[in-house]
Amino acid sequence: METTLVLIKPGGVARNLIGEITRRVEARDLTVAGLKLILADRATVEEHYAEHRERPFFADVCNYLCSGPIVAMAVRGTNAIRAIRTMMGATNPLDATPGTIRGDLALSIEDNLTHSSSDEEAAARELALWFPEGMVS
Ligand code: CDP
Ligand code: MG
Repeated sequence: METTLVLIKPGGVARNLIGEITRRVEARDLTVAGLKLILADRATVEEHYAEHRERPFFADVCNYLCSGPIVAMAVRGTNAIRAIRTMMGATNPLDATPGTIRGDLALSIEDNLTHSSSDEEAAARELALWFPEGMVS
C-alpha cells in the first residue's frame, strides 16, 4: 500500500475540474485519505518544487501555484504512486496520451492541471509538507 500526493493546480480549480479529477482517482479504486482546498503559501510551494530551484521555470511555476486556490489530496492504494503518475500523463499535455488527465483536459505545460509525487521518497516528503497535521485515515 502506498500513499501519494496529488495537487489540483489553480487552473484545475478555476475550471471546476475538482470533481472530474477526483472522480478519475476514485474510479481507479484509489482511496482519498486526505483532502483540502487551500491557498498555498510561497514558502511551502518553493520547498515543494525545491528540486527545480535552478530551472528557468521555477519562479513562474511557484507564482502560478500561489495564484489561486488549489486542492491538496493524499491518495492511497496498491502502487498508488505509479498508478497516479500514469493517470496524469506526460508533463507537457501535448505529449500526454488521450485517456490521461493531462491528455484529455489540458493543453499547456504551464497549466497542466495536476501535480503528483514522482516516487516514494518524494511522496513521503510532499505528504509531510502539505499534510503536516497528518491524514484522517
Ligand atoms: O509535474 P511533473 O512532475 O510532470 O513535471 P516536473 O518536471 O516535475 O515539473 C514541475 C512543473 O513545472 C510541471 O508540472 C510544469 O507545470 C512546470 N514546468 C514548466 O512550466 N516548464 C517546463 N519546461 C517544465 C515544467
Ligand atoms: Mg515532478
